[in-house]
Amino acid sequence: MNTIIAFAGSDSKESINKQLAAYASSLVENTDVTVLDLNDFELPLYGMDYETAHGIPENAHKFLEQIKGSDGIVLSLAEHNGAYATVFKNIFDWMSRIDGKLWSDKPMLLMATSPGARGGATVLEIAKGRIPYMGGNIVADFSLPSFYENFSEGTITNEELNEQLKKHVDIFRNNL
Ligand SMILES: Cc1cc2nc3c(=O)[nH]c(=O)nc-3n(C[C@H](O)[C@H](O)[C@H](O)COP(=O)(O)O)c2cc1C
Repeated sequence: MNTIIAFAGSDSKESINKQLAAYASSLVENTDVTVLDLNDFELPLYGMDYETAHGIPENAHKFLEQIKGSDGIVLSLAEHNGAYATVFKNIFDWMSRIDGKLWSDKPMLLMATSPGARGGATVLEIAKGRIPYMGGNIVADFSLPSFYENFSEGTITNEELNEQLKKHVDIFRNNL
């Protein structure tokens, strides 16, 4: 059976992106899902001087092992000021010091959501532009706008958006 990892580019305890990643990954049939939380992979803020003095922390290796040990990735990005949340950029930077192709060609369902009407569209575009240069294989992407109007109790409540997501999940599943 395929195994996938799902996580959010966020460290919020109630992360709406983690909720979306957990929901989307639950729709992937006949697949073992591990939902990861960046809070369990705490890292110092990346700095070249820190790296020179202390090397690359174990948690960067551990997260990269999770990616490499998976058959696919469901990732939903939080948008902070039109860009990655710091915690995601940080683990991305650390892992890139181990392997520039860190996403390891794993099929990826890339998503973003926010409380606003654009649903993290800006960070999604940034990631779509960059991740393919870093070993990424984005096979489907999805943005959920206005999270609190369209998501409740672990599921997308807007029928049309739910159908859209399901189509993207099917594409992802077929690429595993
Ligand atoms: C510092 C900061 C900047 C933010 N900037 C944006 C933004 O540019 N666009 C947006 O849609 N939401 C923005 N938000 C709101 C986030 O989308 C919201 O906090 C969301 O819950 C973050 O996702 P998460 O719950 O998965 O962490 C920002 C929030 C913070 C704290």
